[in-house]
Amino acid sequence: MKKLITVIFLLCFNLIVRADEGMWVLYLLGDKVYNDMVKKGLKLSREQIYSMNKASLKDAIVIFGGGCTGEVVSREGLIFTNHHCGYGAIAAASSVEKNYLRDGFWAKSKNEEIPAPSLSVQFLVRIEDVTPSVEKELAGLSGSAWSAKLQEVSQRIVKNATEGTGYEARVVPFYRGNQFLLFVYERYRDVRLVGTPPESIGKFGGDTDNWEWPRHTGDFAVFRVYADKNGKPAAYSPDNVPLRPKYHLPVSIKGVKENDFTMVLGYPGSTNRYETSYGVKLKTDVENPAIVRLRDVRLRLMFDEMKKDPAVRLQLASSYASIANYWKFFDGEAKQLLKYDVYGQKKAAEETFKQWAKGKPEYENLMAEFEKAYAAWLPYAKHRIYLNEGILGSPLAAYGASLLALERALTRKPANPEEINRIAENVNRARTSFLENENKASDERILAATCHMFYTDIARDQHPEEFFRWLRTAYGDPQDESTYTRFASDVFRKTMILDDTRWQQFISKPDSSTLQNDLLCRYVFSFIKNYNNRFGLYAAEFNNRINDLGRLYMKGIMQMNPQLVSYPDANFTMRLSYGSVKPYRPRDGVIYDYTCTITGVLEKYKPGDYEFDLPKELIEAANKKDFGIYKDARLNNLVVCFITNNDITGGNSGSPVLNGNGELIGLAFDGNYEALSHKIAFDKDMNRTICVDVRYVLWCIDKLGGAKHIINELTLR
Ligand code: ARG
Repeated sequence: MKKLITVIFLLCFNLIVRADEGMWVLYLLGDKVYNDMVKKGLKLSREQIYSMNKASLKDAIVIFGGGCTGEVVSREGLIFTNHHCGYGAIAAASSVEKNYLRDGFWAKSKNEEIPAPSLSVQFLVRIEDVTPSVEKELAGLSGSAWSAKLQEVSQRIVKNATEGTGYEARVVPFYRGNQFLLFVYERYRDVRLVGTPPESIGKFGGDTDNWEWPRHTGDFAVFRVYADKNGKPAAYSPDNVPLRPKYHLPVSIKGVKENDFTMVLGYPGSTNRYETSYGVKLKTDVENPAIVRLRDVRLRLMFDEMKKDPAVRLQLASSYASIANYWKFFDGEAKQLLKYDVYGQKKAAEETFKQWAKGKPEYENLMAEFEKAYAAWLPYAKHRIYLNEGILGSPLAAYGASLLALERALTRKPANPEEINRIAENVNRARTSFLENENKASDERILAATCHMFYTDIARDQHPEEFFRWLRTAYGDPQDESTYTRFASDVFRKTMILDDTRWQQFISKPDSSTLQNDLLCRYVFSFIKNYNNRFGLYAAEFNNRINDLGRLYMKGIMQMNPQLVSYPDANFTMRLSYGSVKPYRPRDGVIYDYTCTITGVLEKYKPGDYEFDLPKELIEAANKKDFGIYKDARLNNLVVCFITNNDITGGNSGSPVLNGNGELIGLAFDGNYEALSHKIAFDKDMNRTICVDVRYVLWCIDKLGGAKHIINELTLR
């Protein structure tokens, strides 16, 4: 009983329902939230959305791959998600001759569906509040002891919850560690590609249109989950059969109009809505600009090679897309945080908190402590970014960094041969997949450029001094670009990592001196050791401190005003967001419509362009106005995308957008530029979710893909 009480207290104690903001934990929808949804157009009962005993909406929602959402849309395990979520798998299934990424692909029958070994989908089995048992053990702890204990307790809880079931589970902190829920999942690993539009539809508009509205992208792809004969997860086998899901979503082709109720169920990854002013400032002044600067260079060097060779373009496509996606995000996030003076808003909120905290020993000094922690970390913050996004932005260097574990094992006294073997096996396996994706030409230039940037941009007294001294004697003045060109060229010619014979010799009988003398390892190890030995401690202290202070701050805010924190920050657990279809005013004098159509797709068309080219079938069908049952009656046109004011974030990609009857009307795939500060501050006037209209999805499958059999598999309403 107590369990339930804490949950009810934290998750739905008399919340203020603020229009459209909120990522609700759906296993206990408070009355206020549920009633508000009904008032706004929901026609389903709570049980139909989430039930422990009966099939409900939640059973159709899956974690797709490592960081996306997907939904089951047929009795035979058919899954819809975004094109950008399937992107890596589509690229991996492609070759220069059979280029599905470029040309699209539709399996004519189940036999033609292509296994995607990198993918899995996870179904949510159950949720349990484990706060009391976790908190009992964490009592009185802080810093790294708190984190270590949490890990230990979580492992125990997970073991108990999953033993003998084949399930997986995770204990997840909510409200910054003031509540803990256990999530149990069933993971299916036999996932196959059923179909995808060509990239010129699935990623139409590329990075120019990414994070922007109006948008004309058909960002969807179709997969299928397979299971063994008993419906249980199984490794890929030709004997596996399509999964018979507990529930699948019906699809509505009635379309949307302004103010229609919309509901999104999915897996938002992270938000930090109670970030402090200090954290905001660190992002806008240091972290985001540094990430953007480094990614700019890496992307340019990758693209140079991608332009030259279709094989390289395919090889680097997925990694390029994900670096570019958050390159633009971090840039936009910093700009919007500054534009809306989120720093100022946070300062004001902290002032209120300080007033309240006066005379309360637990909270009185909290803000001063935050300030101290950030000030102590500030000198090293840029260094951390330059190491992770710069030095390790070179794939070869990143792989080399993983060899540090081997070096540690090799130099440990007494040596543990078993441990050495285990690590050697792992790194050997990892090397194979590293080499598959490795493009030496771009990587060599990335290594040179990022090392040079580190030298120029990071405070001298934080450098790995010995390395740069050695570089000067061996290759020339570290101020000169050409020094790094010569150095990188040598690294790529000499490292055993890129030489099969020497690598096999080494890894069959690893020894520390060969490893330490390898030019690449010598380079990477010196940067990592410099950081770990000199600043790693500050980083750990900072992280622990912010974790402790953040937990206390959240607790304090909830005491100060129990109405204020109505939903927990996103943490990649299943959430429900509700809102409605809405236009917005991006700036003075401008109104953005809530739908856009195929007319706009044609308007953006640039023949042969990297981002705005189109398949000729699309142009022909669009010109013929061959929209069939997918045509929008109001506009007498084909709607491509629409926007809603739902509260979502990265991780929600691929999430179903549902109408009041729980029918699929679209797939969420992006957020708009004007609200890129949404992780830290939700702006109810500006925030929009960008969705691909399900009628455009079906039109592409049916009219362009010729895959009527897929349409026939759906439950159309
Ligand atoms: N911004 C989208 C998201 O994070 C991804 C869009 C992918 N497209 C691209 N051009 N990189 O969900």
